[in-house]
Amino acid sequence: MNQWNQLADVFGGSWDEGEIPECAADNICIAWPSILKCIDIEFPESSGNNVLDYGCGGGLFCRKLSQIGFSVTGYDESHELIKSANLNTSSEVIITSSNLEMVKGGKYNLVSSIMVFQFIMDIESTIDSISSIIKPGGLVIFAVFNPRFIEENSGGDVFSGFDSYQTGYMALKEDLKIPVYNRNEDEYREMFVKNGFQEVYLDYPEFTKEFLERHKMPFSTRHSEYQIQGFRYKNT
Ligand SMILES: C[S@@+](CC[C@H](N)C(=O)[O-])C[C@H]1O[C@@H](n2cnc3c(N)ncnc32)[C@H](O)[C@@H]1O
Repeated sequence: MNQWNQLADVFGGSWDEGEIPECAADNICIAWPSILKCIDIEFPESSGNNVLDYGCGGGLFCRKLSQIGFSVTGYDESHELIKSANLNTSSEVIITSSNLEMVKGGKYNLVSSIMVFQFIMDIESTIDSISSIIKPGGLVIFAVFNPRFIEENSGGDVFSGFDSYQTGYMALKEDLKIPVYNRNEDEYREMFVKNGFQEVYLDYPEFTKEFLERHKMPFSTRHSEYQIQGFRYKNT
């Protein structure tokens, strides 16, 4: 059973445009602006560009990318979250859990992946697959947990078991522990560079005072929750 199906009420649901679900407020208010800044720098013109949102969850970032003008495919392995993503996106957005469908539209100019890679054990295979579906000159932008954030919060209600730094668990519900594979910027850099990418973006966006006045977080917010990296695929 895919553990993410059991978190469909946290990461899924049907949300109106402009609505910021409390469970995704940190993602939308802190991670998105940094990711969108990088996308805006790398793609001043969005139309005509195919985007894959890898691990799209409830589809809110797919909706945002489509609104900006990209042609969007959202891929996720959780069937429950795919249902939500379909509810949250317009019919122009392709939402799928099928690998075949994901590659059907040809190669992508942009692959985004927000808070997904740290839940994948065999990340090297995932990066290999992404390398095979991105166009030369294309961009991969992703957000994962900032290892300093995990370190600060390990042993609390949400994160546990990070004795070895690298692996531990995230518990957003009682009795549902999701394995987390903590990797720092150098580890991702090494894997992407090995696959022919060049780093073009790195950011650790901090929680803002304004955000913390409006939203109560169940963990320490001293360090950025996010490590955001952007890599451009070789141009040849
Ligand atoms: C924390 S949620 C993030 C969802 C969405 N990207 C967002 O920002 O709201 C993690 C997502 O990663 C997906 N996921 C986990 N492992 C995956 C894999 N191997 N391939 C694709 N998606 C995966 C889960 O189904 C879930 O939707």
